[in-house]
Amino acid sequence: MKIALFPGSFDPVTNGHINVIKRALGIFDSLIVAVAVNMNKDSLFSVDERKIFLTKACEDLNFKGITISHFNGLLVDAVKKFNASVVIRGLRAVSDFEIEFQMALMNRELNDKCETMFLMPSPQYSFVSSRMIREIAKFGGDISTFVPLSVVNALKQKSGKNK
Ligand code: PNS
Repeated sequence: MKIALFPGSFDPVTNGHINVIKRALGIFDSLIVAVAVNMNKDSLFSVDERKIFLTKACEDLNFKGITISHFNGLLVDAVKKFNASVVIRGLRAVSDFEIEFQMALMNRELNDKCETMFLMPSPQYSFVSSRMIREIAKFGGDISTFVPLSVVNALKQKSGKNK
C-alpha cells in the first residue's frame, strides 16, 4: 500500500488544496494531509481549527482513503513517522517552482528516500493562496468561491470580531 503525505500550513485550506487532495487520492491508496505545527508564521487559525476545516471539506466531498493529521518539526521525520512513500506538493505556477524545488532537494538530502511529487491544481486555482484569502477576508471581500464553506463562515466570524 502506497501512502502519500501532503504537508502544509493550510491556514486556511483553500479549494486549490482540495483540488490537489482529490488528484492525489486518484493516485495513492492512502493520503495523509498533515498540518505543520510550530512554523515561524503568525497563523490566523489554530492547528485544531485548520484540521477541522480540512476534515469537514473532505467529508462533504465524500473523499475516501484520507487522514487529517499534524506534524511537529522536520517534514522528513513526519514522512518516516507516517510511513509515507512520497510527499505531495501543489505547484500553482512557475513562481512556486523555485522554492519547492529547493525544499524537495533539501528533504532528499536529509533523507535519500524522501521523494516529492508535484501536482498541479486546476487553472482556476492557480492564483489562490491562503495568504491572499486571509487578506481579502480581513477587508470584507468575497472569498466564497476560493475556500470551503466552513472556512468562509469562520473567516466571516473573525473579521466581524475585528470590526
Ligand atoms: O503550506 P506551506 O506553508 O507552503 O507548507 C510548507 C511546509 C510546512 C510543508 C514546510 O515549511 C515544511 O515542511 N516545514 C517543516 C519543517 C521542515 O522540514 N523544514 C525543512 C524543509 S526544507
